[in-house]
Amino acid sequence: MSLELTGISVRYRGAVRPVLSDWDLRVPAGESVALIGPSGAGKSTALAVAGLLLAPDAGQVRIAGQVRTTRDAALVLGQEVGLVLQSVNLLPARSAVDNVMLPALVSGGTRARARPRAVDLLASVGITEPEQRARTLSGGQAQRVGVARALMVAPAVLIADEPTANLDLVTGREIARALLRAAEGTTVLLATHDPEVAAMADRVVELRPATDHAARDGTDPEQRRVAS
Ligand SMILES: Nc1ncnc2c1ncn2[C@@H]1O[C@H](COP(=O)(O)OP(=O)(O)O)[C@@H](O)[C@H]1O
Ligand SMILES: [Mg+2]
Repeated sequence: MSLELTGISVRYRGAVRPVLSDWDLRVPAGESVALIGPSGAGKSTALAVAGLLLAPDAGQVRIAGQVRTTRDAALVLGQEVGLVLQSVNLLPARSAVDNVMLPALVSGGTRARARPRAVDLLASVGITEPEQRARTLSGGQAQRVGVARALMVAPAVLIADEPTANLDLVTGREIARALLRAAEGTTVLLATHDPEVAAMADRVVELRPATDHAARDGTDPEQRRVAS
């Protein structure tokens, strides 16, 4: 399924400048796009809009050509759209495989059917001990389990917001590689500040802080005032 954002504008309450202003992004079905840019550039904001967690002030989100809003979030999240976030929030007392199965069980699946897929997904992200308790996993292992969990219900779109941010560089890159491999065929939007992770995606889109946009294209009102 394609993911399309058109004319997206977001300005947080009290902020002088919008974080996103008439911003477009089109990710064709099955393509992976890395969203890069410095901290504060608006990556998480863009992903929150794409993931139907934040209603933009203007613009539209289309998933598989269909307009979706935050009102559809409950329907769409964990089904058509999977999320991987910086904090994984696994159930600590449960096993890795139980955590991965959870989304399938919540949407009515049986343990017997969910388990083999969960074990396969864990293996595909490098977790070979599915019975290990979540609380005993390292940060990197937990993040891998989070990736497997997001893929459990075979979402058509996977949105990952700096899933490797809390890990060391090498581990982070390994996990990004595992994520993109496991999500092969899925439409992926991945925010990262690591250029090497970004290069693993099919395409890289750069977000710049609002001030840079304005300075570059001459629409910064402050600059215009100085110039005239
Ligand atoms: N909930 C919020 N309320 C007000 N300002 C916010 C909020 N979330 C983010 N911002 C601001 O919006 C800008 C973009 O933030 P963010 O989307 O988190 O960027 P990134 O993920 O690229 O670091 C930053 O200046 C940040 O301080
Ligand atoms: Mg962010």
